[in-house]
Amino acid sequence: MGKNKLARFRENETFALLHQPAFADLFRGDFELKGRWHRDFFGNENPIVLELGCGRGEYTVEMARLFPDKNFIGIDVKGARLWRGAKAATEEGRRNVAFVRTRIEVITSLFAPGEVSEIWITFPDPQPSRARKRLCSPMFLNRYAKILAPQGVVHLKTDSRMLHEYAKAVLAASGVAPLQSAADLYAEGVDAVLSIKTAYEEIFISEGYPITYLKFLLPQGKALVEPEGFTYSGGVPKARTRQSRQVAILRTGRFCA
Ligand SMILES: C[S@@+](CC[C@H](N)C(=O)[O-])C[C@H]1O[C@@H](n2cnc3c(N)ncnc32)[C@H](O)[C@@H]1O
Repeated sequence: MGKNKLARFRENETFALLHQPAFADLFRGDFELKGRWHRDFFGNENPIVLELGCGRGEYTVEMARLFPDKNFIGIDVKGARLWRGAKAATEEGRRNVAFVRTRIEVITSLFAPGEVSEIWITFPDPQPSRARKRLCSPMFLNRYAKILAPQGVVHLKTDSRMLHEYAKAVLAASGVAPLQSAADLYAEGVDAVLSIKTAYEEIFISEGYPITYLKFLLPQGKALVEPEGFTYSGGVPKARTRQSRQVAILRTGRFCA
């Protein structure tokens, strides 16, 4: 393991706003702050907004700056990435930010029913051959539905056209109409929140990938289902650099020249 990574892991231990529960504990039982985030961590009743697969936590930190009257929690399994957001929020003395290093699979061990007001899924791995692993698969969405308050909105921002189409197909198969759907977000105009850019987003924008966006509600008490026979035959834009070519292959499972 690189020295840099080890140094970040050590510094992570010092951040009061970064929680690193053992995965096995969350698999077997509930996190100590489940149902108590407002009272025992944030010390207020403000809405809680999640960023899932947050990486460096750009959305978490930037939205916390824009909306001091809301609470933001970024979740990711990668500690070296979370370090950046946790360090920025700590240095700024942010009281409305937390990060949790864990797997999103155990999200219902972290939050009580209705404890979360809004969810952002920012540039998740498309997982071309493992639909169940996609953070917008019915398996994950049904878990989010359990912790979201009624009328809690989910936002999905991705460069992957395949993932965008897949998420729309999941909603259609489940009888849910999206509140907003954009195949090329920046061509349609964005507000201050939608124009926040993550690390991955910056790479894909610089390489000419259109950014897609989907906004939707999750039905209460009705499970979402996998779309039957979903296939995606579209390509991805031609990559211009070695880095973007590698990222394109990694993220889409194929490369279209
Ligand atoms: C492509 S990166 C995007 C990171 C960041 N949102 C961005 O846009 O720069 C996907 C992130 O999701 C995280 N991730 C993927 N599956 C996860 C899971 N099941 N639980 C927790 N984190 C996960 C990865 O560790 C990674 O940081």
